[in-house]
Formats: sequence, C-alpha cells, structure tokens
Amino acid sequence: MKKYLAILIVFSLPYLLPAQSPKPIIIETQHFALVLTVGNNKRVYQSYLGRKPGAMEYDQMKGGREVYLTAGMDNQFEPSIRMIHNDGNPSLDLKYVSHQSATKDNISTTVIYLKDSVYPIEVSLHYTSYYHKDVIKSWAEIKHKESKAVLLTAYASSLLHFNADEYWLTQFHGDWAREMNMVEEKLTNGIKSIESKLGARTNFYQTQAFFLSLNNPSTETQGELIAGTLAWTGNYKFSFEVDQRNGLRIHSGINPYASEYNLQPGETFATPAFIFTFSNNGKGEASRNLHRWARKYAILDGQTSRMTLLNNWEATHTDFTETRLVELFDEAKKLGVDLFLLDDGWFGNKYPRNDDKAGLGDWQEDKNKLPSGLGYLVKEADKKGIKFGIWLEPEMVNPKSELYEKHPEWILKLPNREENYGRNQLILDLVNPNVQDFVYSIVDDMMQKNPSIAFIKWDCNRSMTNMYSPYLREKQTHLFIDYTKSLYKIMERIRVKYPHLPIMLCSGGGGRTDYGALKYFTEFWPSDNTDGLERINIKWGYSYFFPANTISAHVTSMGKQQSLKFRTDVAMMGKMGYDIRVNNFTPQELQFSNDAVKTYRRLSDIIWFGDLYRVISPYDENRAVLMYVNETKDRAILFNYFTTPRRKDIFSRVLLQGLDVKKKYRIREVNLFPGTKSAQPDNEKLLTGEYLMSIGLNLAPGRTVAMSSNIFEITAE
Ligand code: GLA
Repeated sequence: MKKYLAILIVFSLPYLLPAQSPKPIIIETQHFALVLTVGNNKRVYQSYLGRKPGAMEYDQMKGGREVYLTAGMDNQFEPSIRMIHNDGNPSLDLKYVSHQSATKDNISTTVIYLKDSVYPIEVSLHYTSYYHKDVIKSWAEIKHKESKAVLLTAYASSLLHFNADEYWLTQFHGDWAREMNMVEEKLTNGIKSIESKLGARTNFYQTQAFFLSLNNPSTETQGELIAGTLAWTGNYKFSFEVDQRNGLRIHSGINPYASEYNLQPGETFATPAFIFTFSNNGKGEASRNLHRWARKYAILDGQTSRMTLLNNWEATHTDFTETRLVELFDEAKKLGVDLFLLDDGWFGNKYPRNDDKAGLGDWQEDKNKLPSGLGYLVKEADKKGIKFGIWLEPEMVNPKSELYEKHPEWILKLPNREENYGRNQLILDLVNPNVQDFVYSIVDDMMQKNPSIAFIKWDCNRSMTNMYSPYLREKQTHLFIDYTKSLYKIMERIRVKYPHLPIMLCSGGGGRTDYGALKYFTEFWPSDNTDGLERINIKWGYSYFFPANTISAHVTSMGKQQSLKFRTDVAMMGKMGYDIRVNNFTPQELQFSNDAVKTYRRLSDIIWFGDLYRVISPYDENRAVLMYVNETKDRAILFNYFTTPRRKDIFSRVLLQGLDVKKKYRIREVNLFPGTKSAQPDNEKLLTGEYLMSIGLNLAPGRTVAMSSNIFEITAE
C-alpha cells in the first residue's frame, strides 16, 4: 500500500508548479484532511486529501492539482466553472485573493476568495468541516461586477482529485418500485457520469450518492474511500474523469444540462453543498460518519423521535368514506400506533379524486366522501387518542381540475406542443411567486383550520418533461434550477411557521432522497414496493447514506407469501409504520402486531440513533444481517433475514460488530410470533463482546426457511 494514497505531489508538466506560499490551508476533521496550497502563480491547488497526517507533515505539502478548474484557458479537462463574459470572452482565470477560517462548536468554515485576473468575477470556495463527525461540506459562490449578466454554463459545487492505482465506483440505480440497486465497477479512462435530468423527481433512476474507493473495492470494514452526496433536490451530476496519467477528478454539482444561467451583476450564484466523508476502514465507517452528521446537522429534527403510523393507501386506495376512515382509526388504535395517515383521494368536488386522473390541485375536502370535513376526522382521531396526518401533492395538477381551469398560466408546459403527462398530471410553475403563495397556502390554510394535524406526506409523482415556464419567458434555461430554489423557498416559509411538523418526503417511492430536502423533511418514502424481501435490498442501499430514522418502512400486504412476522421484522429496521387491513388479521396476528409496535417503541432509540453495522450483505449471501449499537455500546439490536436460501447454502457463524469486547451481553430473541419459541441456541445466554465478535453466533441453527427472520436484543449486564 502506498503511504498517503491520495497525496498529490506531482513533478512534471502539466502539473509542474512554481514554489508555493508557505502556509497551507488545512481543512481537517478528526480523521482526515483536505490540504490546499497557493502557488506563486496565485492559483489554488489541492495538495492532499486523505487520512490525517501528522501536524509536521502539513508543511511539506505542495503542488497538486487546481482546486476549481476553469474553462477556456490552459485547462484541458472537464471544467468546474465555465462562463461567457459580456464581451463574449469565454474564459476564466481564477487567482487567490485571500482566505479566512472560523471555528465554532467543532465546526470550521473556510472560505477561499478567488478573482479573475482581468474580469470583475469573484468566486469563493466554501468548506465546512464537522470535526467530530468526519464530514466536509463544500460549495462555491459566484458573483461579478460586469455591466450586464454573464452566462454561466458550468458551476460545480466541488472538485476533488485523487491519485491511486485503481478507482472503484459504487453507484445506486433504479426505477419505480426497484430503487437503490448497488453496482460497483472499476473506472477506466475517460469520463463516467452519474446524473439526472428528471427535475422534480430527480432520483427516479439514479440516486445522488456514491462511494469511490481507492486501489481496491472497499468492503464494509476495509478500504480507503470517500462517500459523497449532493444536497440538491433537482438535476445533479457527478463526473468521474480518469485522465491520461491515471489521475481522477470528481466533479459534483447541479447538472448544467439545459441550464445555462444568466447571472446578473451583484447577484450571487451559490451552488448546493457536496457532502463527503473519507474513511480508511471501509463503507461501514463512512456510513456511520454520514448518519451521525446527518442526524445532528442535516435532517429536520434528526435527533428526536418519530411516530409510528397506520396509512390507508394500500388498504383503501382512493376508495373510502368518512365512516370507513373512522373505523380505520379504531384499527390504528388496536395496533397501538401513534398516528393515522390519510392518503390520496380525500379532495376534489367538481372533479373528485377517485383515481389518479382527476382532482389534483383542488385541495378542498370531497363533500361526498367527507361530508363533515377534515375537522371532523381530526376530532374523531383525537377522541380515540391517535393523531391525524394527511397526504398532499402540492406541486402538481391534473388537467381535470378546477385549478387547471382557473390558472392555466400556472402550469409548466410547452407552447405549440401537446401536453405531456406523467401519471395524468402536470407540474405547477413553482418559479411564479403566485404559485409559491398558492402552494404555501395549501399547507397553511389546512393547518390554520386544523391545527392539530400532526403529520404530512408530501408527494411528487412525476418527473419533468416538455418543460416550459410561462413565468420565466425568455429565461427558460433557469427553470430546472429555479424550480428547486422555489421549492426550498416554500419549504423555508412553511418551516418558519411550522418548524417541527413532521413531513415525509415522497416521490412515487424514492424519487426524492437527498440532504437538500431533508433539511425540511423528517423522513422519506423509499419505495412504493413494500414487499418485505424487496425492501431488504432497497433499505440496504439507502442505509449507506441515510440513517434509519429517515427511512419510512411500512408493513403491508404486498409480498403475501411472506409471513407477517417477516414483513414486520423488515419494517422494524427502519422508521416503522403500517399500511394494511388490520381487521383482516387473525387474533394472533393482531396480538403479534400490537406487541411489535410496543417492542419497536422500546428499541427504536437504538435503531434511529445507534450506529449501523451491515454484517452480511444480501448481495453476498441469501441472507442479510445488520445491527444497530447504541453510543455507549450497552444496547444493540441484531436483525437476521433469510432471503431465498437454497439447500446448497451453508451459512457460517456471524461475527457481530460494534460491541465492547469487555462487556457481557445477554442475547434475547424478541418479536417472536405468539406460540413460537426461539430456535437460537444462544438465546438468553450471557456472552462477552469478545466472544460475540470473534466467535460469533450461529444464526442459522436449524433448517433455514426462505423469508424468515429474527430480531435479537443484545443488552450489557
Ligand atoms: C405515490 C406514493 C404512494 C401513495 C400514492 C397516492 O405513488 O408513493 O405511497 O401515496 O402516490 O397516490
């Protein structure tokens, strides 16, 4: 292994540099550092990125590659920034002006100010490092003092350089109901890009998160890698460029596709933050870094508890009455969950929402289905001692709606072309301030009338095609960017007035899962596929980047060949809820589910706030094993799922992770179905952390049954 694999001290052209200013700019966390230096030519270079060196070694760092590559001059590779000046000159030459750093509560912010040598263009590079979380956030801000707008055609948030023998990229792709399929590949020369052009439902095909491992593929516990993601709920692009000398450049940012931006004098173009962590102990540590950081700094109320719920979507779809809903409150009560979530289908009068073809945009209660109104439902739920939540899809409109008739000018659609639908709907022109007011008022009016509404599911069921904003007129290339910014503006307003109202982010499954949005949302809906078996893999994928308290997981009747116990055990490793006809349960199933909710409540702090260890991957074996361990390492939960084991499968003992070698732990199987006993030979035994982590547990003691599962509570005594 090379020492400092990512160090970049390069001695020959085109990387040859003059002597440098003496003081490197150090951006460091507890375990890794990014070191930038300024050359005598006043350009800024990334001289190092990797595990933290000794203090003395920082001063040795010199040279490297330019930290934010411009276009139009000597750079021959993918640029970080490209702009066309008022006089048509398409070049930029960014020179160091100054930098400043400030630290507060172990969070350091470093800003490096750059200026073009001739044109009045200023670019500042921002790095926020979360020392104890081992996470760095970086973005760029661009402004100018030319007489008219300049045209920006590339505007990355971040550029990182690496120098290793091999680069292994792990990415996550999918589609509706099959999100987060993990693929790992070796990068070859040229550019590999992972990107979205889908706009509102940006993650529909590719999730904006990756691992990049140096020299070898990383495992859960070994390997040197970064994990990265972009905090942006819109078109994004990561490009991985391996050059002629095997150097790697990773650009991250908004996808500039169809998005040339006219930046006015004095206006600041702030790119979204690229978030990354570095680990030399594999993917597991990288995930835990991101989880700890995200709960504290990135997710709305990421460190507080979540509500269990009963949703009515899969149980009723849009076909329900007021009476039926009140009955469902009783079912929620029987289950023992905190909240009832009323899904799609409750609104629309001229065009009632009886399916997905009509009513979207008309956010008034359907007088036929709900003659006594939402207020009545909220009160009834309250009488029964459960909270009430509601589904909204505020950014969208069906052509069959009063909103469409009243405000055709509020809709994104191309002139001179036929309307193009996704799920029979169109997208509202959020860039228009009147539309922003309308969308805000959907939430605000509802909350004013029914202040005890305790939860919102915010859906977004189509991506952008045939886009044209009547509001933007000749500035159509601003649409993708301004749409996302407008969504944030609305959420900002909502959060000023309703700072802690839990809102689930949904996009026809996992079409929107990013840290730009999670600032305003408490959780997200990962997939419309709620089959327990499928969910193991989907959840596995998301778990690399998002903590369990953000990943909604409902027990449903999808995947009927699986036992209720299996489906429940799968939901319990996320943010558990139900979407099922409870009245169809047998008495035993009801008893089991009621106990499961209680068990979940007792264990959820470990699941939501504990450290995740993915022990055996469903990508490697016909089973999946994972654990959550609390901070003090005295409580842990182990989930064991057999997916589709075959007769040939011989499962070895499982070495647990994350425990304290010196502690003694009681192993107890929980969440057993009534009338069944644990088959685990070590059940109820007291075993040391050392034993559990070096000898381990036989989690397949008898005949393994496909789609069966166990949950073990592990408690230090
Ligand atoms: C989307 C969501 C579902 C449900 C329906 C309602 O598909 O992902 O959970 O809310 O919309 O129409």
